[in-house]
Amino acid sequence: MCGIVGYIGNNAVADELLNGLKNLEYRGYDSAGIALNDNKKIAVFKASGKLANLKAVLHEKNAKNCSSFMGIGHIRWATHGAPTIENAHPHLSNDGNLVLVHNGIIENYKELRQKLQNHGVLFHSQTDTEAAVHLFAEEYKKCGSLEKAVRNALPQLKGAFAFVIMHHAEPDKIIAVRKNAPLIIGCGKGENYVVSDIPALLGKVSRIIHLNDDEMAVVKKDEVIVKDINGQIIQKELEKVDMVADVISKNGYAHFMLKEICEQPSILRKVMQAHVQKQKICLDDAKIVVDFAQVQKIVIVACGTSLHAAMVAKKVWEEWLQFPVQIEAASEFIYQTNLLDEHSLVIGVSQSGETADTITALKLAQKYKAQIMVLTNRIDSSIVRYASSVVPLNAGVEISVAATKSYMAQLAAFYWLGLLMAQKLNKISHDDWQQKLQSLIQLPEKIEEVLSHQDNINLIAQKLADYPAVVFMARGFNLPTAYEAALKLKEISYINANAYPAGELKHGPIALLDENMPVLALFEKGETAPKLLSNCEEAKARHAPVIGIGGAKCSDIFDAYIETPEIEACFSPLLLCVPVQLLAYFTAKALNCEIDQPRNLAKSVTVE
Ligand code: AGP
Repeated sequence: MCGIVGYIGNNAVADELLNGLKNLEYRGYDSAGIALNDNKKIAVFKASGKLANLKAVLHEKNAKNCSSFMGIGHIRWATHGAPTIENAHPHLSNDGNLVLVHNGIIENYKELRQKLQNHGVLFHSQTDTEAAVHLFAEEYKKCGSLEKAVRNALPQLKGAFAFVIMHHAEPDKIIAVRKNAPLIIGCGKGENYVVSDIPALLGKVSRIIHLNDDEMAVVKKDEVIVKDINGQIIQKELEKVDMVADVISKNGYAHFMLKEICEQPSILRKVMQAHVQKQKICLDDAKIVVDFAQVQKIVIVACGTSLHAAMVAKKVWEEWLQFPVQIEAASEFIYQTNLLDEHSLVIGVSQSGETADTITALKLAQKYKAQIMVLTNRIDSSIVRYASSVVPLNAGVEISVAATKSYMAQLAAFYWLGLLMAQKLNKISHDDWQQKLQSLIQLPEKIEEVLSHQDNINLIAQKLADYPAVVFMARGFNLPTAYEAALKLKEISYINANAYPAGELKHGPIALLDENMPVLALFEKGETAPKLLSNCEEAKARHAPVIGIGGAKCSDIFDAYIETPEIEACFSPLLLCVPVQLLAYFTAKALNCEIDQPRNLAKSVTVE
């Protein structure tokens, strides 16, 4: 996923573009660049690495002296081609007159590249994007109009794209066009913006236009005209920006990740107050049109952290509903034999709503005529278009690449959806309902108690930071929590963290254990605890440092213990995810890692 910003207006263009790119850095930070359309030519400035490197280039080259009032900018998560300056956007046509930035993937870029090269076009990068800029330029030579050139070129492109394009000979307009990648127009007074996501507009405009697929916008200083790809004008409604500037502020926290971890109790309270009442589940802003009585199969597809939330749902729903729930990594779902039909409910879970693997899985589910529901934190995202039922997570924009509050919100949604289905399928008694309701209501306070022990967790993290690899293990409801703990730690500290079912350790992974391989065990109430304790003793016997996390400390074998308030086993994933999030955070902090922008990652993976 990349970040795009376009600006046309009377303010200093370079500053406007940099400000927008800064607020989109969570989308990718492998390289960055801007293009300014001043009276003489199109000036392009690029740098590999973080946005700060681009700022240095702009300073060095006095870019702010460019007398332009329109420009485009891009921040990149590399798909095709390494994160070098040559591959950084914006990309320029051979004649230097047409320039564009792109988010998405052009699937037929190789044949386009070959065809253009046969026409004498010179390529300077390994990107798929460069095929588009030269295609648009070739079409411009034929018709002399940027809008027409883009329209003539689009049918020749396959894949997902959000383009923002300028031409030196038409210095009064920016063209924006989208297909399966988000683009939003920010409408100001005497100025307009084109961006990939709303954080780039915060504090700038209060009215926006969401471009839909196969729509094109001609953006001038005082006018925005939206057309379909055939050139027919489309009347679009101006929408209010429903996000506050607070979202892009750390509010005094050292990192967005810690801020978002600490927001979890309030998010849980908000979700529960909106949906879980004394006797029933309220849908609030969720749209659920599933006829649960007709459902004979439930399949949940997701990636990464969202897949771990789905794994928790499987364990909880199968216990509550006595109904099989299938979990699939979206990237695998698309290749396996899926026995789906109109009696199948396929649930896609995606914080960003732009994850290509998950969207592709839902497109496949549509072919089987399955009922589709999505749980997403971005109801303005692409994934919503493939579902008849939509459950907003309402976690607020999550800036840190490492998902935390959105995971909590996904779990919360799965719990209230589980109660909703249990009620509709008559699987829950009044007393059981009240008991579960109480457990959920008490949770935010219990999470706050865990958050109050950050110092203890930090002390443990300082020691954990010395190890090159660790093992998480669990049994029961928290096996997914162990997977999530390992993912969090590895993605922000780069420590080789892995997770196993505790019972699996003796079948091989125990060979890894020695004094240099800490083992972290996640305890929940009930029958799994004694056996998990035995697994800890087995680890201790191999001289591995052993850390316990969960209810009351249950033995002296632990080298350290993170105690959490008592909670019913089936609700414990909502609680135990917090100490492991904090452990990952403080370990990465001890290692001075780029916590909010870990290497090689981006907030949403919009390529398969
Ligand atoms: C989680 O910390 C990672 N950022 C990553 O695994 C993420 O959960 C995954 O890419 C899925 O993203 P989505 O929820 O936006 O689909």
